[in-house]
Amino acid sequence: MQKLFVEGGTRLKGTVKIGGAKNSAVALLPATILADSEVIIEGLPDISDVVILSELLEEIGGTAKRDQGTVHIDPTKMTSMPLPNGKVKKLRASYYFMGAMLGRFKRAVIGLPGGCHIGPRPIDQHIKGFEALGAEVTNEQGAIYLRAEELTGARIYLDVVSVGATINIMLAAVRAKGKTVIENAAREPEIIDVATLLTSMGAKIKGAGTDVIRIEGVETLSGCTHTIIPDRIEAGTYTIMAAAQGDDVLIDNVIPQHLEPLLAKLREMGVDIEEGEEHLRVRRSDETTAVDIKTLVHPGFPTDLQQPFTTLLTKAEGTSIVTDTIYTARFKHIDELRRMNAEIKVEGSSAIVYGPSQLQGARVCASDLRAGAALIIAGLIADGITEITGIEHIERGYEQITDKLTNLGAKIWKEEMTEEEMAQIQN
Ligand code: EPZ
Repeated sequence: MQKLFVEGGTRLKGTVKIGGAKNSAVALLPATILADSEVIIEGLPDISDVVILSELLEEIGGTAKRDQGTVHIDPTKMTSMPLPNGKVKKLRASYYFMGAMLGRFKRAVIGLPGGCHIGPRPIDQHIKGFEALGAEVTNEQGAIYLRAEELTGARIYLDVVSVGATINIMLAAVRAKGKTVIENAAREPEIIDVATLLTSMGAKIKGAGTDVIRIEGVETLSGCTHTIIPDRIEAGTYTIMAAAQGDDVLIDNVIPQHLEPLLAKLREMGVDIEEGEEHLRVRRSDETTAVDIKTLVHPGFPTDLQQPFTTLLTKAEGTSIVTDTIYTARFKHIDELRRMNAEIKVEGSSAIVYGPSQLQGARVCASDLRAGAALIIAGLIADGITEITGIEHIERGYEQITDKLTNLGAKIWKEEMTEEEMAQIQN
């Protein structure tokens, strides 16, 4: 196991290239189960979630050959092999194996998904969708069993706007008999990306990206080549880093429209941002003012940028209120920021940030992916050295983050943990 060190104070300068979207990748890979010939996905990010999902595709009998960002998946020999334990438990997105395997084999056994510890993450809406399509769903000793004689299109109204449920129902419905309508669907760009892949495979989907998605089931889906969209959360994280500590940073391979709520808030704070067609250019400002943010479903401010943004607010003049309406307890980073001298109070689903405070390097722990990003940003702006454990969470979602930041001039490096330190963490 390794830990990460960041020496604060260095200004960032140069270009950073954004990789493929993690939250698309984790759905696109399971979606390939639905095809009956080779699917090629290009531009996948170099992160551990992609490795684990590729291995899972092989566990059920497929082949997944990775060559840098391109994966060739041959789904022809896949079977409905039960996946109750092991790798599926490591990441939340393994729940997409439910929809995809149900869609192809009409049966699946999948362990209850793991993933980041950011509060309760129920999957009742996924199950409601599968049942509406005709599946019987049972929970037996921590594994979900899905069985259907036949899947038949249905009208499904989501009680909660859910990215995962919207994608999972699409996966199960594309090969169902007849028409499915998903109402109150989530509208995230990743949903459009998955619908684009499925459409290239031969699925009939209309309305992805709006809150009503219409699917006309087809009997078979075939292979294709698909290029993933850029990761808006990785791009947003580097944009926040540049706003905090950038002299002049060019963030390349971005769809700026995907980041509008973030860019609007940064401009409101006084950060200088130039938008190109596929890039952003960001320069920090010495004086930024406090702003309030409230996370909402897309196209609102994304919950996945709430934690990194909170760190930035510690530098701003005045009091900011950060409210997370999606994951109301996504505040595990706050205690760590406090250790670094931030003045922040959590009240219900809000964090109140009293700025500005000069952060000080400290030993901190990344409890989840975006908390980890928040702590790296804190390390970049702090006085002295920040030591971050729990970096396996960060590597689940940010490709080559130490290399990318080093290229921008940051002083950041990894070291092996001693046995004593590892024992302390495990206790
Ligand atoms: C996706 O999670 C992302 N993960 C999350 O990113 C992201 O935070 C989240 O969407 C919101 O944007 C992946 O795409 C793999 P939801 P997901 O279903 O799909 C409630 C990151 O850091 N809900 O849209 O699991 C749920 O509790 C990760 O990259 C139900 O009540 O999120 C939450 O409050 C973390 N019942 C809200 O809906 C359900 O059946 C939105 O969750 C499903 C969800």
